[in-house]
Formats: sequence, structure tokens, C-alpha cells
Amino acid sequence: MAKNHRFVFSEQHSIPASSDYSGNRKAPSPLLRFFFLSFFAVTFIILCSSTILHPFFYFPVTEAESQILNRASSSLCSFVINNSICCDRSAFRTDICFLHGDVRTHSLSNTIFFQSVVLRQETIRPYTRKWEKNIMAIVSELRLRAIAGPTVSCDIVHPFPAVVFSTGGYTGNVFHEFNDGIIPLYLTAHHHNRDVILLVLDHHNWWVSRYAEILSRISRFPPINFSNDSRTHCFPSATVGLHIHDDLTIDPTQTPLNNSIIGFRQFLDDAYAPRLRWLEVAEKPNLVLVLRNGSRSVENEGDLVAMATEMGFRVGILRPEKTTELASIYKVMNGSDVMIGVHGAAMTHFLFMRPGAVFVQIIPLGTEWAAETYYGAPARRMGLRYVAYKVRVEESSLWREYGREHPVVREPGKINARGWEETKRVYLDRQNVSLDLGRFRRTLEGVRRYLDGGRLRRPEEAEEETERRQK
Ligand SMILES: *[C@@H]1O[C@H](CO)[C@@H](O)[C@H](O)[C@H]1NC(C)=O
Ligand SMILES: *[C@@H]1O[C@H](CO)[C@@H](O)[C@H](O)[C@H]1NC(C)=O
Ligand SMILES: *[C@@H]1O[C@H](CO)[C@@H](O)[C@H](O)[C@H]1NC(C)=O
Ligand SMILES: *[C@@H]1O[C@H](CO)[C@@H](O)[C@H](O)[C@H]1NC(C)=O
Ligand SMILES: *[C@@H]1O[C@H](CO)[C@@H](O)[C@H](O)[C@H]1NC(C)=O
Ligand SMILES: *[C@@H]1O[C@H](CO)[C@@H](O)[C@H](O)[C@H]1NC(C)=O
Ligand SMILES: *[C@@H]1O[C@H](CO)[C@@H](O)[C@H](O)[C@H]1NC(C)=O
Repeated sequence: MAKNHRFVFSEQHSIPASSDYSGNRKAPSPLLRFFFLSFFAVTFIILCSSTILHPFFYFPVTEAESQILNRASSSLCSFVINNSICCDRSAFRTDICFLHGDVRTHSLSNTIFFQSVVLRQETIRPYTRKWEKNIMAIVSELRLRAIAGPTVSCDIVHPFPAVVFSTGGYTGNVFHEFNDGIIPLYLTAHHHNRDVILLVLDHHNWWVSRYAEILSRISRFPPINFSNDSRTHCFPSATVGLHIHDDLTIDPTQTPLNNSIIGFRQFLDDAYAPRLRWLEVAEKPNLVLVLRNGSRSVENEGDLVAMATEMGFRVGILRPEKTTELASIYKVMNGSDVMIGVHGAAMTHFLFMRPGAVFVQIIPLGTEWAAETYYGAPARRMGLRYVAYKVRVEESSLWREYGREHPVVREPGKINARGWEETKRVYLDRQNVSLDLGRFRRTLEGVRRYLDGGRLRRPEEAEEETERRQK
């Protein structure tokens, strides 16, 4: 149903025709202006007098905080009084209500209760296209009810304020998503520094995931589906409805922190930077081939490089020599996602890899024990993903030299039992490998799948990490 709405409306109203805009820009008539002024004056007097009557006048802690709070509300509601509600219905595009004190949700009755000695009820559709009757009709309406005594009991007590809004209406069309939703949300909630709970009416999962990066910059808590969360959430205050200045526009003088559209642009940059950094790293995983010149060379290294490149790896080749500066090797290995090398001392460089990276050790005939003992087990202990690629007989130069039936090929265990000298002479100093590329490709495909899985996981893990640190 919600889905149908989305498509129907996004088709009919993609980007509003220019006639839509002219309607918004009507300047208020002089009479209206006079009315507003008188209304403001009267409200001002009422608010001042209620200060005297109310024991709960809320004094923000510092002057700066007070300025932010005052600028966060609208001019009509710039006095923040505890246990009260103020609704500003003066704007052309939006209604917005501010509740302070004991605020509790009751989704079954589409109501937000708050405690006050002044009993009253307001209704509001928290969406920023107030002048479009048809679209507002399909936006959920909320009741804001003041009650004298305690209301519903709290299931979850939040120490932070709530911002309540709808992602109904034209949501589904990117212009409207930014114009009616994201920018207004930024204007209304950004100054809370992520300490704010988003309560969403007409909630869509796709909207939450599409705007995940942005939403997590507005609030460090996942948005709540107001309509089907039957628990009662309690807040010290709530803003119901969103501020909006003009089409895709921000007027700095109306924002709590003097933000402009440039500030919003920076906000987007901050929101997407972590994700992009990861995408850049992950788009082409860095693969380092650690190669040797003399013995234990990969005879078809050129084909291997071509295949890995074709599979989407950024391939680098490292031939460590005694004179190679370690720092430069560190740089390469620390920046790599995968290291591939034939068993040998150069495998020690796995120590320079980041945990979670992949180490593929190509293990020639007769070197299994040393490969596992010196490199495989230690690499796993360091948190690397270790893959042992044991060459088949046909991939070893010893097969060409001795034939399949020779003990050197058939029974390395026996040769090795003669001692290290023999192992070194037969298997280490005189053996090259020629990879079976079909087989090695399957290993690389596994590596690639592992890295892709990690790429999907990592941004969330990073986010949780930040979360933990903040708590
Ligand atoms: C606002 O009122 C609630 C009770 O209704 C009280 O718990 C809270 O401390 C008050 N806050 C301030 C800042 O006075
Ligand atoms: C939000 O709640 C409404 C009302 O129960 C429900 O229809 C809708 O499917 C929910 N949305 C999501 C994404 O869970
Ligand atoms: C809200 O609805 C979604 C799906 O529509 C469901 O998975 C979720 O459990 C519901 N939450 C509550 C608190 O009812
Ligand atoms: C708001 O920002 C503008 C431009 O950065 C600056 O000129 C102005 O002084 C600022 N105003 C306030 C009240 O900070
Ligand atoms: C290894 O071979 C490369 C080119 O194939 C050459 O540049 C390098 O000098 C050689 N290193 C050693 C130690 O032979
Ligand atoms: C190693 O890589 C990590 C992650 O990319 C980076 O944060 C760190 O600065 C790098 N270390 C050095 C010495 O470059
Ligand atoms: C192994 O390859 C190297 C070239 O990288 C070559 O010099 C050497 O003779 C080869 N050894 C064997 C046993 O094939």
C-alpha cells in the first residue's frame, strides 16, 4: 500500500512544475502581517506571564546554549517553558510544535502525551508541504495531548529529545526526499550533535537504508517506526514537525548554528567520507605478489599477474632484497589486502599486514611442515585470513625433473626425515612452481568473496566501534 503511494505520487509529481513554486512565494498581506504582529505580541505577553505562574521556567545552562535553543525553535516559540507546548502554525510550508517536560509516545492512538497543568490538545501532520491539501491528507496525523497526571507508563526512557516527522507524502522522489525531508531534518535536528531520537511516521525501511549515512550523522540511534512500535518511549522534550526555509535552501539566520547550504554540503561530505574511503580501498583490493628470483620462483608469474588483474585486483610486485628499506616494504604490506608468495623467508613480511587481510602461501612439495609452523600458524594468530595453497605434483618443477614415481616427488616425508640439509638441498634450493591457473583462480575467487563480504560488513562494524567508544 505504502509502496503504491510512493510510485503513484512520484510519477505524478516528479519535480513540481514552476507553477507550484509561484504559489509558495505569496507575501503575506499587510492585514495578515498586522495579525501576525499582534499575535506575536499577545503570545509574548502570555508567555511572560506564564513564567510567573509556572514554577518550571526552563533556564538553559549557558548563554550560548540558550541562544542555540532559542534559535532552534521558531520565533513564535522561542521561549522554552517546561511542561508546556508551543505550536507555530504561522509558516506557509510547515507546522511545528515544541513540547517540553514529560513527553511520552502512545502509537496505538497516534498520540504523544505530555504533562501539563494547562490541558489542551493539538493535532499536526509533521510534513513540510502544508499548502498541498491532497498530499497532506495521506500523511499521518498525530495528536499532542496535555494531561495533568501521569499518563502511560514508560517502556524506554530516553535522556535525549525526540524529533518527530513523516516520510510519507512525496517520499520516493529524490527532490522531495531532500527538499521536504533531509534538509528540513538537518535544520531541525543537526544542532543536537547526534543526541536525538528520530521518530518516523509513515516509515519505510528503504528510506532508512538509502539515507543511512546521513541519518547516522543526525542521530546516533536508529530511527524508530512510530506507527508500529507499541512501546512507550519517554523524552525530556520533543519537536514535532520540521523546519523548512525555502526550496533546497537554508537561511543561516534561521538556523541554531548559523549553518548555510555550504554547511549542509560539508555535512554530506562528512557523512559519506567513511563509506567512500572504504569503497576506494575495497573497489580494487590491493594484492601484493612477493616473488623470489632464484629458487622457488613462480615460473608463470606473468600469467598470474594478468589473471589477478583481470579478476579485479590491483596487483603490485614486491621482490624484497637485502638492501630494500623495510619502511618501504611496510608501506606496501600495510596497504595491501592480499599477499601471495611462495614459502620462504620473505613470508615473514606478513607481520606488516593489517589484521583481516589475506595471506596466501604457495607451498611447494616437501615444505608443508615449515610453511605451517613458521608462517601459517603465526599468521592466523595475528588475525590474518590464512590460505594454504599446496601445489600439486604437476605444478612443481620437481615433477618435470624426476617424474611422478620418484621418491622426491612421491614421498617427501621420507626425504625430509633425512634432515634439514636434505630438505634444503632438494626442496628449497631446487624447486620452482608453475601454477595451475584454473585451480589458482578458484583460490583467488574465494579470497575475493571473503573481501567482498568484509566490505559489506565493515562500515557497520566501524559505526558500532564509534558507538562503543562514545558510550
Ligand atoms: C520539567 O518537568 C519535568 C516534570 O514534568 C521534570 O522532571 C523536569 O526536571 C523539568 N525540567 C526542568 C529543566 O525544569
Ligand atoms: C512501520 O509500521 C507500520 C504500521 O504498523 C507498518 O505498516 C510498516 O510496515 C512498518 N514499517 C517498517 C519498515 O517496518
Ligand atoms: C514493526 O513492523 C515490522 C515489519 O512490518 C516488524 O518486523 C517489527 O517487529 C514491528 N515492530 C514492532 C515493535 O511491532
Ligand atoms: C554567520 O555566518 C556568517 C558567514 O559565515 C558570518 O558572516 C556571520 O557573522 C555569522 N553570524 C553569526 C551570528 O554567527
Ligand atoms: C631479480 O630479478 C629482477 C628482474 O627480474 C632484477 O631486476 C633483480 O635485480 C633481480 N634480483 C636479484 C637478487 O637477482
Ligand atoms: C597502516 O594502515 C592503516 C589503515 O589503512 C593506517 O591507518 C595507518 O596509518 C597505516 N600505517 C602507516 C605507518 O602508514
Ligand atoms: C627456477 O627459476 C629460476 C628463474 O627464476 C631459474 O634460474 C632456475 O634455474 C629454476 N630452477 C629450476 C630447478 O627449474
